[in-house]
Amino acid sequence: MDVVLIRGDGIGKEICESVIRVSEALNCNVSFLECEAGSEYYEKSGKLMEDGLLEKIQDCGLALKGPTATPIGTGFRSINVYLRQRFNTYANVRPLRSMKGVKTRFEDVDLVVIRENSEDLYKGVEYMYDENTAHGIKIITREASERIIRFAFDYARKNGRKKVTCVHKANIMKLTDGLFLDVFKKVSSEYPEIESDSVIIDALCMKLVSDPCAFDVLVAPNLYGDIISDLCAGLVGGLGFAPSVNIGDEVKIYEAVHGSAPDIAGKDIANPSAILMSFADLLKDNGEKKKGELLRKVIEDMIAEGKCVTADIGGTASTSAFTDALIERIRHEDL
Ligand code: NAI
Repeated sequence: MDVVLIRGDGIGKEICESVIRVSEALNCNVSFLECEAGSEYYEKSGKLMEDGLLEKIQDCGLALKGPTATPIGTGFRSINVYLRQRFNTYANVRPLRSMKGVKTRFEDVDLVVIRENSEDLYKGVEYMYDENTAHGIKIITREASERIIRFAFDYARKNGRKKVTCVHKANIMKLTDGLFLDVFKKVSSEYPEIESDSVIIDALCMKLVSDPCAFDVLVAPNLYGDIISDLCAGLVGGLGFAPSVNIGDEVKIYEAVHGSAPDIAGKDIANPSAILMSFADLLKDNGEKKKGELLRKVIEDMIAEGKCVTADIGGTASTSAFTDALIERIRHEDL
């Protein structure tokens, strides 16, 4: 299968190199079509992404994306947000599971955050009302709410999950979040075998850090989904262990949740696990199930053993040493 590979910015180059090497070792049916995009590409070319990139993603239907940097406050808009809107990848799925060998407060977290990806405050409808007042418009539609909520219940059904929780703030945003919650209640009645409930976003944050095992699948509008998925990543050991996929009807874009980590870029010390786990999910979902599962298992075994892990989880291994060790393990597996 053809997969568009965007290395992106900062540590993206290093962690995507790890993916390419691991893919070769797995001998899987993947041809990477490399394309450039991001702020480093912008600096050298004056363009945010290479010509033809969008067409290639459209043709392949599959992309693996390293992190791309976005300036804060001013400058160009996020490439991630642009790609999500351009390809209408309306569902962002982030499975977050505790891993042996990664010290965290809780040992048995197993959550999936399903974030609506196409609207809410991320529509980018902002303007200056007057010199001292900025307005941002929160857009919630019945259509997009129903699509993501149905997606969450279908995901739960397909993956043997027991409960879907709706995240909202409908006590205050009675129209926008009220609509989201209302749609949730209607759709949930079509899935009687799956438990459903709802929780206000602030209460959820408190419960997640005190009893994360009370939750299973969380479905949320864009902004809350963005925030809680990083919170949940913290529960399982940080951003180095959080894979994700943006799903539309025609295109799937896999990526790590973390950013370009400019503070450690170019030092060969980044943890490539999250992008490798995203790649494992890409394989699993797209015809290479056995190799995807094997890759995930090999990463988990290596981390559980703890002998060759990166600095973010207390090890001393470089990105390339971690990758070498992973490849060595893959060579001993039955492909
Ligand atoms: P960040 O995720 O890049 O870094 C936060 C902290 O986590 C840093 O200390 C970093 O060193 C560490 N970290 C992140 N990934 C790591 C890894 N794989 N291994 C070891 N340590 C890791 O978040 P930050 O600093 O807020 O954002 C930096 C840039 O990344 C910004 O320009 C932001 O817009 C962009 N970004 C891009 C994303 C994407 O393309 N999906 C997602 C989040 C941020």
